[in-house]
Amino acid sequence: MNKKLRKAVIAGNWKMNKTPVETAELIGNIKPLVKNADCDVVVCVPYVNLQTAIQCTEGTNIKVGAENCHWAESGAFTGEISPQMLTSIGVEYVIIGHSERRQYFGETDETVSMRVNAALKAGLQVILCVGESLEQREKNITFEIVSMQTKIALQNVSEEDLKNVIIAYEPVWAIGTGKTATAKQANEVNSFIRELIADLYNTKAANAFVIQYGGSMNAENAAELLDQEDIDGGLIGGASLKAPDFAKIVEAASR
Ligand code: 13P
Repeated sequence: MNKKLRKAVIAGNWKMNKTPVETAELIGNIKPLVKNADCDVVVCVPYVNLQTAIQCTEGTNIKVGAENCHWAESGAFTGEISPQMLTSIGVEYVIIGHSERRQYFGETDETVSMRVNAALKAGLQVILCVGESLEQREKNITFEIVSMQTKIALQNVSEEDLKNVIIAYEPVWAIGTGKTATAKQANEVNSFIRELIADLYNTKAANAFVIQYGGSMNAENAAELLDQEDIDGGLIGGASLKAPDFAKIVEAASR
């Protein structure tokens, strides 16, 4: 019943893939396949492809997102991009706290929290990533890790601003490995996150809150994952780079 309160969001995370020319081609292929989607469709692309993506999706049901942003509006932060720069060109979404940023680029729960707040202030929709490593799962501390990541990231987010946040539960061991969490494993953590949102805010906010799953979601396993009560969409890596596969996931979310 609660699931019906939420519109699914299928977002592609292209990571460090595609040039602007290839972006135009891929979006051109995705467009006709998802035009009747009954879910929100987002493509999160590398910075240099944002403008192309925005031009190519104009007048369509596809929204464009970035893969990260800094917490300051401007300043001496070589190599960084501010949320205001993103909104100035029409970007609507931003992924924050992806495990690859945490793992390879020193992202911490504190910097994730700062980025989340800055993105919300600029008017972006945030896709906040949380998830445990294999070692953490094996030590049976998945819930503690996900709880801590979520609580710190949302520590200064008001109930009003929470409407512009989505959480993507992405178990690190399932990313790019072909090892998907089972539908049961994924739903268990998503439902834990929803309870946490109810504790931090209230039941109404929790029922309306979109929680995606990410980690080797593909055209074959999407339907089963998306059928789960607390899985409201997906953050898709590899499969989002193939138009027919991405479209099949969008179709599964539209049922
Ligand atoms: P894969 O779908 O390639 O496993 O990547 C998932 C992911 O990290 C999305 O953000």
